[in-house]
Amino acid sequence: MKDKYGREIDYLRISLTDRCNLRCIYCMEEDNNEFFEEEDKLTKDEILKIVSVSAKLGVKKIRLTGGEPLVRKDIIELMDEINNIEGIEGIYLTTNGILLSEKVEALKKAGLKGVNISLDSLKEKMFHDLTRLGDLKKVLSAIEKCLELGIKVKLNTVMIKSKNDDEILDFVNLTIKKNLDVRFIELMPIGVGGKFEGVSNEDILNLIRNNYKNIEEVNRSKDGGPASYVKLENAKGKIGFISAISNCFCEDCNRIRLTSEGFLKQCLHFNYGIDLRKLLRGGASENDILNVIKDNIYNKPEKHLFMKKSNDKELKFMNQIGG
Ligand code: GTP
Ligand code: 5AD
Ligand code: SF4
Repeated sequence: MKDKYGREIDYLRISLTDRCNLRCIYCMEEDNNEFFEEEDKLTKDEILKIVSVSAKLGVKKIRLTGGEPLVRKDIIELMDEINNIEGIEGIYLTTNGILLSEKVEALKKAGLKGVNISLDSLKEKMFHDLTRLGDLKKVLSAIEKCLELGIKVKLNTVMIKSKNDDEILDFVNLTIKKNLDVRFIELMPIGVGGKFEGVSNEDILNLIRNNYKNIEEVNRSKDGGPASYVKLENAKGKIGFISAISNCFCEDCNRIRLTSEGFLKQCLHFNYGIDLRKLLRGGASENDILNVIKDNIYNKPEKHLFMKKSNDKELKFMNQIGG
């Protein structure tokens, strides 16, 4: 269905848990992170109810996110059952890749079409410094396995000044050799993200232009994804830019979000939305849920205001929202 600005909303991002097996420095604190109680998280059946109602309203694409979605034990059954819901055309996953190689075959059987893997460094020590807990080898082997299985791979890379920003061209070079896209995400001042200085995508693109001659612009696809892309001559994959800060893409936004404790969020940046868990556990009918979701889609905010002061700003951390 369309929201009041005429945007077609057909994409639901579902955070399965706020827990994560990593502690990326711009996303979570090292210790004393607060997590939702287990009983406050939506159950598999509650998620399935919300997906099937959303599908009736025109949602076709589902992305499972976290925290880290693969730490949730029932993810494979959940994916399989979402895949059987009428109207759902594709299920995707955003993961840090640590647990991916052991689960990807089963996930593929359950309907997984593509993965976005977060990877901020190709150097073991820096990867460990940025994630505080991660083992780079596990992520690299997951990437290879996905490519072998024919699962579409996009790498999500956040550049932080004086940390990993000397690796920009190493990431760019991956697109020459491998059939995957690398996307540079501008650091957003959400949660602890505000404590670090990111690198603007304009600077990254200038660096690429200074180092490569033939760079093709790729037309922005109409699927409303947040990235714009370029491609190096003879490269297998594309280079993407998610420039939430320098170049807001809200006018093409096609998505709503569900947090793991059941809050339906209208926009990444604002706290507007509705507590669906309360409604579901309070005995709301399917029709009540449908009307509430419809109303929330219709009233999606026009755009985010990351760089402005606002009383309705989201105070949750990225791992609680799911990106
Ligand atoms: P596809 O377009 O389906 O590939 O997914 P995606 O790129 O939206 O998903 P992914 O989970 O890989 O997110 C990549 C980055 O984009 C994360 O940092 C998200 O927070 C950011 N992002 C995704 N959707 C939005 C959005 O609506 N607004 C903003 N500002 N950032 C977003
Ligand atoms: N700004 C931008 N991207 C972020 N991510 C997590 N926190 C932030 C932030 N503050 C990214 C992760 C992951 C994706 C889901 O969100 O790197 O790739
Ligand atoms: Fe975990 Fe992703 Fe946050 Fe890193 S960015 S701590 S992988 S949720």
